[in-house]
Amino acid sequence: MATVSESVHGMWSSRLMFILAAAGSAVGLGNIWRFPYVAGENGGGAFVLVYLLCIALIGIPIMSAEIMLGRAGRRSPINSMQALAARSGASPLWELIGWMGALAGFMILSFYGVIAGWAMYYVFESGVGTFVGATGEVATSTFNEFTGNPAQVVGWQSVFMALTVLIVARGVGEGLERTVKYLMPALFILLLVLVGYSMSTGYFGDGLQFLFGFNFEKLTWGGVLMAMGQAFFTLSLGMAAIMTYGAYMPQDSSIVGTAAMVAGLDTMVALLAGMVIFPLVFANGLESSAGPGLMFVTLPLAFGQMPGGQVFGTVFFVLVSFAAITSSISLVEPAVAWLVERLGVTRRRAAIIVGGISWFVGLGSAFSFNIWSEATAFGGMTFFDVMDYVSNNILLPVGGMLIAIFAAWILDDDVRHSEIGIIGERYTLWSMLVGVVAPLAVGIVFVMTIF
Ligand code: TRP
Repeated sequence: MATVSESVHGMWSSRLMFILAAAGSAVGLGNIWRFPYVAGENGGGAFVLVYLLCIALIGIPIMSAEIMLGRAGRRSPINSMQALAARSGASPLWELIGWMGALAGFMILSFYGVIAGWAMYYVFESGVGTFVGATGEVATSTFNEFTGNPAQVVGWQSVFMALTVLIVARGVGEGLERTVKYLMPALFILLLVLVGYSMSTGYFGDGLQFLFGFNFEKLTWGGVLMAMGQAFFTLSLGMAAIMTYGAYMPQDSSIVGTAAMVAGLDTMVALLAGMVIFPLVFANGLESSAGPGLMFVTLPLAFGQMPGGQVFGTVFFVLVSFAAITSSISLVEPAVAWLVERLGVTRRRAAIIVGGISWFVGLGSAFSFNIWSEATAFGGMTFFDVMDYVSNNILLPVGGMLIAIFAAWILDDDVRHSEIGIIGERYTLWSMLVGVVAPLAVGIVFVMTIF
């Protein structure tokens, strides 16, 4: 394998653009919609602590491994893994990391597109003032009526998926980079505005107490698994999305420093989102453990009771929609890159194919809230629940573990050393984290959950 310094799909124009793109992928519904409600369901503080540990000890090492493999391969994950395995004299089976990633990507995108569609719909509902002064019943029935209507849910899911396809079809520079360049700074500004708003509620301290008051009695091994799954999901790890973005990263950027930076930004956004949401929840005497509806029922209700809530509520859902779109493009890109390489089809056609399949699988998730809400398996899980649980808590950790093992133990030494760019003690620490701590931690959490 000749070392390639450019990807055929295009390149990020600078390290900063890689950071924005990777942070764009990482910051999404996982931070704003999923993190607060999963933390709420698992009792807050102790869950947050485990989550932070997972980010530091598992997330950052695995992210650096993914970036490294992507940049060393400079192709779609499937083809990069194939080339790197061959170069390292390892079994071609390692290519399976790419295939598993593609599967996880379709599963995630299928429910992601649905929830992102809800967020877009809520921009309009908030904008027209539906929630101003609304009671709990109004907020709940607005949500139930909307999600209970398959045509509406699928309609908004379709709008969101079409936008995703449009952006990816335009390519790495014109599509992906241009999108993150504008949306990410906008997102940070909107978030800070909302934090300020939340501080004005007088309940900011209660929010902090909930997020950082460690109450270990409420934490189970199941909760630890959820915290680890959340760490993978929120950093976009384990399905080779970051590997794909790494393939477009300039050769001279430091990998470990960049990974830490991206993880830091993502964690900051999740914690800030919690600091926006929980004070609003407590200020209005609402439940922190409201589940997936927390963002769609509890928050509009809270905004509806607050001065300026119509504007800030609308701003909030714009923020969520932005965050979702910069993530969904990273779920589509790996499979699109592979189709372009493998079948030689145009990027536009590839984007339509991948988006179309995800949209189709996503119908199952869209229907989980209405016509298929009774169709459950594994003790009451809907299609949506199964997609979410299997991808986050199983496929991503397994994928991440394999990526870490390959990067630390299998990959050709020369490739690893020349890519990772650190030496001496720092290198030893890095290889311990990637090769031992991260895979072992994933393994332990799995074993403990099963028992
Ligand atoms: N990280 C995103 C979020 O928090 C979701 C996401 C985008 C993702 N790409 C991914 C998750 C790849 C896992 C793998 O919303």
